[in-house]
Amino acid sequence: MTTLRDMTRADLPAVLALEEELFAPDTWTAAMYRDELARTDTRHYLVAVDEAGAVVGYAGLIAYPEEAHIATIGVAAAVQGQGVGALLLDTLLAEADVRSRVVLLEVRADNEVAQGLYRRRGFVEIGRRRGYYQPSNTDAVVMSREVLARAR
Ligand SMILES: CC(C)(COP(=O)(O)OP(=O)(O)OC[C@H]1O[C@@H](n2cnc3c(N)ncnc32)[C@H](O)[C@@H]1OP(=O)(O)O)[C@@H](O)C(=O)NCCC(=O)NCCS
Repeated sequence: MTTLRDMTRADLPAVLALEEELFAPDTWTAAMYRDELARTDTRHYLVAVDEAGAVVGYAGLIAYPEEAHIATIGVAAAVQGQGVGALLLDTLLAEADVRSRVVLLEVRADNEVAQGLYRRRGFVEIGRRRGYYQPSNTDAVVMSREVLARAR
């Protein structure tokens, strides 16, 4: 069974290995993750761990009162399609619903699986960013989801 817990600096070697597997050449660096983890007021980063304690996925939320942002989400290829990505995303969206009014994200224009996952959770396309992912120069689709759960 996969469980979620907060990401710590000790997880970074495993997270960076997954970054390389999933996002090369557009990978985040260790310094970027260290900066993110230090900003505990607005950041919420999770790892998914298997029964042996190995990191098999991760995701991050940046949340300000007006707007939250799914910063990243990734699941090891070996365990994709088993619900880990949905678990990570749904947990971050529950957090976003408490903290923010709207959730935004960018997703690679050629990533149908991820776009479907987001659409089924209420995200709609609101724009495109040409060449957003570098150095691969891949376009991004920008998606948005209004927080529906409560009146403000
Ligand atoms: C996108 C990603 C995070 C999804 O994680 P996952 O653990 O494989 O996804 P899950 O098993 O939870 O499935 C999520 C949904 O996608 C669907 N799905 C998963 N794999 C699929 C596939 N190969 N084809 C079509 N649909 C698929 C599932 O049916 C599920 O549907 P749901 O919305 O009804 O729950 C994962 O595939 C990944 O890390 N991909 C590479 C990195 C990436 O693209 N990250 C997103 C960047 S924005």
